[in-house]
Amino acid sequence: MIRLQNVSKSYAGRLALKDVNLHVALGEFAFLVGPSGAGKSTLMRLLYREEVPTSGNVFIGGVNLNKLSSPQIPLLRRRLGIIFQDYKLLTRQTAYDNVAYILRAHGIDEKEVRKRVNSALNVVNLEDKQDAFPDELSGGEQQRVGIARAIVNGPPVLLADEPTGNLDPATSLEIVQLLARISQRGTTVLISTHDHTIVNTMRRRVISMRAGEVATDIDSGFYEVQGQIQV
Ligand SMILES: Nc1ncnc2c1ncn2[C@@H]1O[C@H](COP(=O)(O)OP(=O)(O)OP(=O)(O)O)[C@@H](O)[C@H]1O
Ligand SMILES: [Mg+2]
Repeated sequence: MIRLQNVSKSYAGRLALKDVNLHVALGEFAFLVGPSGAGKSTLMRLLYREEVPTSGNVFIGGVNLNKLSSPQIPLLRRRLGIIFQDYKLLTRQTAYDNVAYILRAHGIDEKEVRKRVNSALNVVNLEDKQDAFPDELSGGEQQRVGIARAIVNGPPVLLADEPTGNLDPATSLEIVQLLARISQRGTTVLISTHDHTIVNTMRRRVISMRAGEVATDIDSGFYEVQGQIQV
């Protein structure tokens, strides 16, 4: 579902990604870890075509993103759910309207919008907060709105760059467990994180990056704290 072939990306002559090869299969759930500056966000941005590789190819569902024309980019993004560390909610819109926004922008009729938004809010267990504004919600609740918004189009791929970076440990684990449940329904999920506890609790695939390269890629992996041995 996600494939990178010999992908390099340089900024002003400095390589942020070096010859990265990676495959994440349909319905797979994986963590992307590594120290600050390792290239996690750069990799994520290539996947939603915020950036293009300096060399190599990036595929989503078999589509080569290098070959997309500008009008095709919104079509790609419709097939991706993107979840942000800072939620990026519309502050003057309710939870419901934040989730409905993209559907309305696509001209979907209100009856269908209601059905899909209610279903997405149900998945994240926020039906009772649908009329709340973002500043009336906790961080975890705001991120659950962000997840509902990401899944409302039924995308085959969810990308989350440090989705729990602003949340406390217990809420962070709940958010990642929610993403794992969504993945079980057949969605491919890639989550970048610095959170060792979450990675080591979940025991799922762990792709670790270092200085722009994939350093290790392990099923049911651990995220080792530097200088410490995990048992
Ligand atoms: N827009 C940009 N312009 C120039 N250099 C950039 C840009 N974006 C990233 N870089 C550089 O690319 C490298 C990888 O950055 P990236 O943001 O992908 O790391 P990261 O693994 O996401 O780090 P963090 O854990 O801190 O979020 C870094 O050296 C960074 O300075
Ligand atoms: Mg980053």
